[in-house]
Amino acid sequence: MVMRHTGRHFLQIPGPTNVPDRILRAMDHPVIDHRGPEFAALTREIIQRLPTVFQTTGQIVIFPSSGTGAAEAALVNTLSPGDRVLIFETGHFSQVWRRIAEQLGLDVEYAPGSWRRGASESDLESRLAADERHPFKAVVVVHNETSTGVTTRVGALRTAMNRVGHPALLIVDAVSSLGSIDFRQDEWQVDVTVVGSQKGLMLPPGLGFNAVSEKALAASRNAKLVKNYWDWRPVLEQNRAGFFPYTPATNLLLALREALRMLQEEGLQNVFLRHDRHARATRAAVQAWGLDIVCEDPREYSSSMTAFFMPDGHDADRFRSLVLEHFDMSLGAGLSKLAGKVVRIGHLGSFNDLMLAGTLSGIEMGLRVAGVPHREGGVTAALQSLAQEIATEQPIG
Ligand SMILES: Cc1ncc(COP(=O)(O)O)c(C=O)c1O
Repeated sequence: MVMRHTGRHFLQIPGPTNVPDRILRAMDHPVIDHRGPEFAALTREIIQRLPTVFQTTGQIVIFPSSGTGAAEAALVNTLSPGDRVLIFETGHFSQVWRRIAEQLGLDVEYAPGSWRRGASESDLESRLAADERHPFKAVVVVHNETSTGVTTRVGALRTAMNRVGHPALLIVDAVSSLGSIDFRQDEWQVDVTVVGSQKGLMLPPGLGFNAVSEKALAASRNAKLVKNYWDWRPVLEQNRAGFFPYTPATNLLLALREALRMLQEEGLQNVFLRHDRHARATRAAVQAWGLDIVCEDPREYSSSMTAFFMPDGHDADRFRSLVLEHFDMSLGAGLSKLAGKVVRIGHLGSFNDLMLAGTLSGIEMGLRVAGVPHREGGVTAALQSLAQEIATEQPIG
């Protein structure tokens, strides 16, 4: 039987996320001249508003690209062939970084990890302390590992780097954390932050970002990896007048301006609190069902998504297909070695309590339909968690 769906699709993968109607309307605009005054004003407003979201006063380069493109841009602008780079294994997306870095001709040390924990500051400290002559030119870490729902404490990594006094650049993938989980570019002295548009920024896929420190800009003057399209300099130069050195993604930039206005109206701290609250309620549900959350350390629970294991003998992809078929909801698949084993729930971006309640209800019904052994009461536990927190919540600002 072909299911006919009514109402709205539930897009509960951990990105791309739901794009609010207000942003869709902002994009629904005749294409403008990318060398005209209206476009220059758009760029200027974006450049003025964007740093707040990264909690930086530094410069941000915007590319028409996916997050992977922005990752390549971070490396080619700061490093030279053969440079040593330390990358922490946290999951599928750390593997992607390793592949990009190796293909670019960098000398990668891949610090092994379990996929249930974030990058460890003590491991970083001992690796850097052993690196007395400082050949590591960069440390790369994924802030929120989207394949596992584990958030590395980047502030603790920075403290470890400073304790050892190591001069390596700190490059952070904040693709699934920026605009959802507290991320502090300046306070944590992050040198390049890599982001894509399709998650916490509530936009469709298609924009990539590099937020760059003064130290990264200085490194870029000597970086010898080959680049043309990804070169930061012409973008930053032309941005000063409100333009780009190629035809930019004009309508995505209209969308970005609207998203930045929305984030500012809600207040960044309130955005973080909302994500924290939804994440706690989601975990309350998963734990009440008696299912195992991938993240092992409560200090590293992700606020933008939650991944849980299917019980042995039950295929996560079959479960996801049943949920899609019966309830018109997309859930995130397990990636790489977690394929078929985990389900990922996205609770980030443009999202609210009732959307979460609907999401968790779809999962609970799906567990029944698929015959997956679980305890009753997950949705009830989540509703209790949400209601209890609302009763005591103090919005900021
Ligand atoms: C943490 C992380 N890094 C990198 C990427 C790659 O981004 P993109 O798929 O936009 O190239 C993703 C995509 O989901 C991600 O979640």
